[in-house]
Amino acid sequence: MEKVLVTSALIYANGKVHVGHLAGAYLPADIYTRYLRLRGVDVIHISGTDEHGVPITLAAEKAGVSPGEYVDRYYQIIKETFDRLGILFDHFSRTSRPLHHKLAQDFFLKLYEKGFIEKKKTCQFYCPSCKRFLPDRYVEGECPYCGYEEARGDQCERCGRWLEPELLKNPRCKVCGSAPHLRETEHFYFMLNKFQQRLEEWIDKNTHWKENVRNSARGWLKEGLRPRAITRDLSWGVPVPLDGYENKVLYVWFDAPIGYISATIEWAREKGDENLWKEYWKDENTKLIHFIGKDNIVFHTIFWPAMLMGYGDFILPYDVPANDFLNLEGEKISTSRNWAVWGDEFVEEFHPDYLRFYLTLILPEDRDGDYRWDELQERVNQELVNSYGNFVNRTLSFIKKYMGGRIPEPGTFTADDQEAMEKMKEYAENAGKEIEKFSFRKALRTFLEASLLANRYFDYQAPWRLRKENPERCKTVLNVCANMVYDLALMSSPFIPFSSRRVEEMLGVKFERWEGVGRRNLKGGETLGEVRVLYSKIEDERIKIQKEKLGKEEGMVKIEDIEKLGLKIGKIEKVERIEGADKLYKLLVDLGNEKRTLVAGLRPYYSEEELEGKLIVVVTRLEPARIRGVESQGMLLAAESDGTVAILVPEKNVKPGAKVK
Ligand code: MF3
Ligand code: ZN
Repeated sequence: MEKVLVTSALIYANGKVHVGHLAGAYLPADIYTRYLRLRGVDVIHISGTDEHGVPITLAAEKAGVSPGEYVDRYYQIIKETFDRLGILFDHFSRTSRPLHHKLAQDFFLKLYEKGFIEKKKTCQFYCPSCKRFLPDRYVEGECPYCGYEEARGDQCERCGRWLEPELLKNPRCKVCGSAPHLRETEHFYFMLNKFQQRLEEWIDKNTHWKENVRNSARGWLKEGLRPRAITRDLSWGVPVPLDGYENKVLYVWFDAPIGYISATIEWAREKGDENLWKEYWKDENTKLIHFIGKDNIVFHTIFWPAMLMGYGDFILPYDVPANDFLNLEGEKISTSRNWAVWGDEFVEEFHPDYLRFYLTLILPEDRDGDYRWDELQERVNQELVNSYGNFVNRTLSFIKKYMGGRIPEPGTFTADDQEAMEKMKEYAENAGKEIEKFSFRKALRTFLEASLLANRYFDYQAPWRLRKENPERCKTVLNVCANMVYDLALMSSPFIPFSSRRVEEMLGVKFERWEGVGRRNLKGGETLGEVRVLYSKIEDERIKIQKEKLGKEEGMVKIEDIEKLGLKIGKIEKVERIEGADKLYKLLVDLGNEKRTLVAGLRPYYSEEELEGKLIVVVTRLEPARIRGVESQGMLLAAESDGTVAILVPEKNVKPGAKVK
């Protein structure tokens, strides 16, 4: 049987999942996998987190935690978000796992032994103040090709060129901003140039690829491939497996794609079948399909295939359906500016299928897409809720109300009935063909046409009238409608799986094969489960709230939050030591209309005399806490630096109880 191995780009574990990620790779990969599975194809979807490289170390440094802690946190968050959005994986791994490290090192050694990796002396930027070599994104500067001033050492985000840090003009250290200088060091290089011809022949053969993907691969080849440095001076990553080079790690783009293989091996082990992964990676009949965003094209069409060619043993990618970028309200998505719609936040507010539905309609399949909240509302309300949702609802509630919740047996089908059901089959066939071509937008449009037709059938046949005028005919019509509910829910299940699941429950069925569409699966006599409305409309207010969140920094406190602290001026009236606690004082503080006891760790820094009579700032709305047997009813503000502590005092005389604002 034909096998398909679907992968979606290993997402950096340095942040949350946003709509750009989803539209770029994960949603299309999921739709595709779900569809193939319904077609009975032996398909698995493999992915995971990319946990190495400068994108991780920089983010961890900024957050003030170790890279390990950082990726642990994000692995969980990312995995859960995908889960809640119905992005299914057969296995979702991480590149920090030992199995992956071993395989990556094995790749390195084999390519090294075969002469595809060479050691070279080079000059690299060294930051004098950080006292370290600066690998790729640790350097920023002006792009030598387009002049963009904030180009990163590995790639220019404006012109998309793949760079080496040394090419940047006016370079600066990303961490401290100082100008680095060049210093001699040693690195290992992957001899990409040795694969020039083989890659050219291979790309030439891949006529079934998307135009943009093939063209950009050709572009890289036309420029001529050069050896690429594949080691970095970092302490986080896969260590270079050669004596004397333990301080270097593999370049993240060298180890990450190997993660597709190591994750598949892990999947096989968990299934209890050690060798199962080989059926996917070593069988020429398996189609390997990498879903990625366009910034990953060069790595998946040049770099990674060359690694695979050099290593031998494994199949090459069959297709690399890369999507363009998704913008947000006409602007580039930016995680640092919080100009993004986050998956986890979306599902807190809305039905996950709303996002899947809208994103599929705007997938950047052949040009950049644009996510607009108003458009989401309009599309969801009009096309999902009012059209499909309405059809399901009117059909099933009619059956519930007038047919005792039993799908009626049909009499003789008229030509109209036959045609309606026949049409469903046709729509499903067309949608399937589009999915196979990675044209998910068109496929979903086809489904929407089918819903439209179903609604028109309902309107035209008018079962509410037939119920009185021709009860027998009414039953037939409702049977046709119920079957169309089945067909539509099955056809849309790769796109909006949660909704389809609900319809399955209401109809008491289980969808198994795509080919089931239009086959009159409900013969009549089946009892409906609990009938509930599938969707509700999105109101303006809820969209407004979402739009207001854009561009605001996450986790910022509002004025109200500060007011909640109840900051007030207090006057220290009495200072006492606490038995057995050599750092603490017990303070009696006058707050104007009341007196409170505070426990503060000031003894190493202030004498009793120094404190008595001082005006201080007190957090009055703090839950009381018992410290060494004394109830502390607030907290005073103090600053700490260089091993000493200084309490905050008002600069002029103010009354105890004065509000701090
Ligand atoms: N982490 C990369 C990114 O988000 C993608 C890695 S894909 C893999 O851009 F092939 F390297 F795994
Ligand atoms: Zn520096």
